[in-house]
This record gives sequence, structure tokens and C-alpha cells, in this order.
Amino acid sequence: MTKKIPIILDGDPGHDDAIAWVLANADPNLDILAVTTVSGNQTIEKTSYNAQRICTLIGLDVPIGKGGSTPLIREPMNAPSVHGDSGLDGPALPEPAFPLSDLSAVELIAEKVRECKDKVTLVPTGPLTNIAAFLLAHPELKNRIEQISLMGGGIELGNWTPAAEFNILVDPEAADIVFRSGIPIIMSGLDVTEKAFIKPEDVELIRSHHNEVAQIVAQWLEFFYEFHLNLGYEGAPVHDAVAVTALTHPEWMDIRELYVEVETKGKYCVGATVGDIHRVTGKAPNTKVLMGIHRENFVNYIARACGSYGEVKA
Ligand code: RIB
Ligand code: CA
Repeated sequence: MTKKIPIILDGDPGHDDAIAWVLANADPNLDILAVTTVSGNQTIEKTSYNAQRICTLIGLDVPIGKGGSTPLIREPMNAPSVHGDSGLDGPALPEPAFPLSDLSAVELIAEKVRECKDKVTLVPTGPLTNIAAFLLAHPELKNRIEQISLMGGGIELGNWTPAAEFNILVDPEAADIVFRSGIPIIMSGLDVTEKAFIKPEDVELIRSHHNEVAQIVAQWLEFFYEFHLNLGYEGAPVHDAVAVTALTHPEWMDIRELYVEVETKGKYCVGATVGDIHRVTGKAPNTKVLMGIHRENFVNYIARACGSYGEVKA
């Protein structure tokens, strides 16, 4: 039995954050120490309420730390067009059975990192506000972080502007702090996540598991798929689940080690993750950038995770 990887999930649920958490909670190789929330897909109030509901649905009884209401210095930016007014539109979800922690996201991360005997892996799947704030507030704990497996950015493309992906664009100053931190980064950017899509027939594979979680994941995917179908996508790209899969199945990934820096200024390119493909900066790579994924393995991994949850509660 390989040693479990201690992780903290930080996100802005969000349909794909929710599926990433379903996946992480089902994988026996991951030990989830805490969940923290960030403003992104929706307001911090809504993403925190969604986090409580997701944790209740999947039986993830760990502390939930609420993040701040804004990025480090910019005004909040949300995505109701993608995830709906609640941030997690679609199927009805259970009301929270778990309260929010008395600790903020930053202080909960700090407490769990201090307590853990091993170095902790951070898995942010929203804007990087909490991660940057944690590094600024607790520099003494930086060496207790094993790596950061994040969903964000894109070397070859953006999705919220032509140059920038949403998570990075919401808080480019935070992303700049994280990419400059010296902590090993695994970047699941759009280069790979737009290849990690779920087709309608894949949804039926997930729905074939007759338990509450699988049925709700299928409905989340159908909601998410409708938005992307209208944009011409072949399926629903489950962006955030790739950041989890990168930890448990790196063998399914095409990986390039690059020096990546974040644009925090500029009229057209603010929020861009700029990868030094031709090594012109002379700077050593700071990021493992995922460029491809074995899509069928990824789909089956999600389906198996959904199938591992209990039968529908009587
Ligand atoms: O650009 C995709 C990312 O933005 C995903 O993390 C999605 O949940 C949103 O946060
Ligand atoms: Ca997200």
C-alpha cells in the first residue's frame, strides 16, 4: 500500500470543483485534511454554501474554511453564465450537515499544515487568492508544502479572454505569488483540461451506477454540458478533476516542464500564464505543465469513483 498523499482541497464550487472533490474523496490514495473556499465561479457566500452541501452529499466530514470575499487587490469576478446563480445549478442537493470552520481558509490551511507530520499537497481549483494569502501570512510554513496541483491557466489559450483562463484572470496577483513561490507546481491548464471532456455517452456510464452521488454527478455534467455544447464543445470539460487526477495518475498525462510566469499588467494579456517553451529566459522550469491526457482512462476513473459511493439512502 503506497503512502496516502495528504491534501487540502481549495475551490469555488462550481460543477467541476464538485466533481473533483467527489473524485478525491473516493480515491484511497488521497487523505483530505480540509476543504477551503474561494470567491470565483460565484460569491464566497455561495461557494462556501456549495462546499458544505457537496461535503454533506459525499460524506466528507473535514473542516471547511471560508475564504475572503474578494481577490487580493481586485474586485470580485463571478461566472453565473457557466455555473448558474447558485454556482452549482441543476440537481437539488442536501442541506449542509457540516458547519463552516471558525477558522478562515488561510488559518485552516496553516493549522492543518502545522499538524500534519508529512508535507501537504495543496489542490486549488479556483482563483489562487487563498493560496497566495497563506504564503504571505505564513512564510514559515512554505517548506511544509510538498507541491501545488492547480487547475488554472493555459500556455496556448485562454477562455475568459483570448489570453487568460478564468481562475488566473480573477486574481493574477495571487497567481503571480504562487508561481514565484518556488514550491513545485503541477499546472492543469486549458491545454489539458479542454481535452478532459465527458461526452453524453460517458454520462450514461456514470448514471448506470445507482447511487445518489452518481445520479447527481450525471446531472451536474448534463448542466455543464449544455453550456459547453452551445460553444461547440464535444463534451463537458471537467477542468478541476484533472488537478486531482494529476496526483493519482500522472502516467495518463503528457507533461512539459516549463518556466511559467503570470502577466499582471497589460491591456490584452493580463492573467496570461506565459510558458518559456524555447527556454529564452534562461530560467529553470518551475512548473510541470500538463499538455495532454488519456481521456478514456480519465472518464473511467470518474465513473469508478462515482460507483464507489453507497447505494441510494432508504
Ligand atoms: O476556467 C475553468 C475554471 O474556472 C474551473 O476551475 C472552473 O470551476 C472555474 O473556476
Ligand atoms: Ca473551479
